[in-house]
Amino acid sequence: MSLPDPKIIIALDYSSESLALALAEQLDPTKCRLKVGKELYTAAGPSVVRALQQLGFEIFLDLKFHDIPNTAAKACAMAAELGVWMVNVHASGGRTMMERCVEAVDAFGRERPRLIGVTVLTSLTKADLVEVGIHSDPVEQVQRLAGLAQSCGLDGVVCSAQEAPVLRQEMADSFLLVTPGIRPKSASANDQKRISTPSEALSLGVDYLVIGRPITQAISPSEALLAIDREITLGL
Ligand code: C5P
Repeated sequence: MSLPDPKIIIALDYSSESLALALAEQLDPTKCRLKVGKELYTAAGPSVVRALQQLGFEIFLDLKFHDIPNTAAKACAMAAELGVWMVNVHASGGRTMMERCVEAVDAFGRERPRLIGVTVLTSLTKADLVEVGIHSDPVEQVQRLAGLAQSCGLDGVVCSAQEAPVLRQEMADSFLLVTPGIRPKSASANDQKRISTPSEALSLGVDYLVIGRPITQAISPSEALLAIDREITLGL
C-alpha cells in the first residue's frame, strides 16, 4: 500500500516549541505535513523538529540556505541527518552551491529530503530587483532560477500559484511546485496579496500547498484542516 502523500503543509509560525506542539497535537499527520521556519527553528532548534517527528509528522525545514557552496551543502546534510522530508535553499546562491547541496542530500539515499529552491521572494517588486542589480521582470527571473534549479538537480521550487502554470509547462512533470498564499474559500486573506484557493492552486499544477493562519488561527485547527482536505477532495 502506498503511504499517504498529503498536499497540505501547515506553516508552524510560532515563537516556542510548546506553542508549536500544542497545535501539532490537534492535527492528523496523515492529512498534513508541517513547516518549521526561521522563527520557530531559531527559538527551539532541532529539538522541535524531533518532537514533531515523534508525533508522526514529516517536516519541511524552511530555512532557505544561501551561503558559499561548502557551508550550504553541510547545512543541507545536517537537515538530512535530522530526517526532514523537505529542505530549501535560495536558487540565487548559484549553480555550484545548488549542485553541492544536491550531492549532500543524495548521500542519504532513498531517505533523502526533497531539496527545493527559492526563486524570487514574492515580497520583492520589480523596483526592488532593479535596486539589487537585477533588471529582468520578476517572472522572467523566476523562470530563469527555476530552470537553473532543475538543471542542478533540485526537486522543485517554491512559487506563487500565479507562476505555477508557466513553470508547469517549462519544467519536468516530476519537478515539484510548493506554493504559499493559499486561502480556503471561507478564510481571510490576512496580509497575503495574491491568493488562491487550495483547489485552484492544485488545478494550476501546484504539488504542495503551504497554509498557515487559516489553520493555525482557526477556532478548531483540526476542523479547518479537514474542511480544506474536503475542499481539495471535492475540487471545490
Ligand atoms: O499564514 P500564511 O498562510 O500566510 O503562511 C504562509 C507561510 O508561507 C508563512 O510561513 C510564510 O512565511 C510562507 N511564505 C509566504 N510567501 C512566500 C514564501 C513563504 O507566505 N512567498
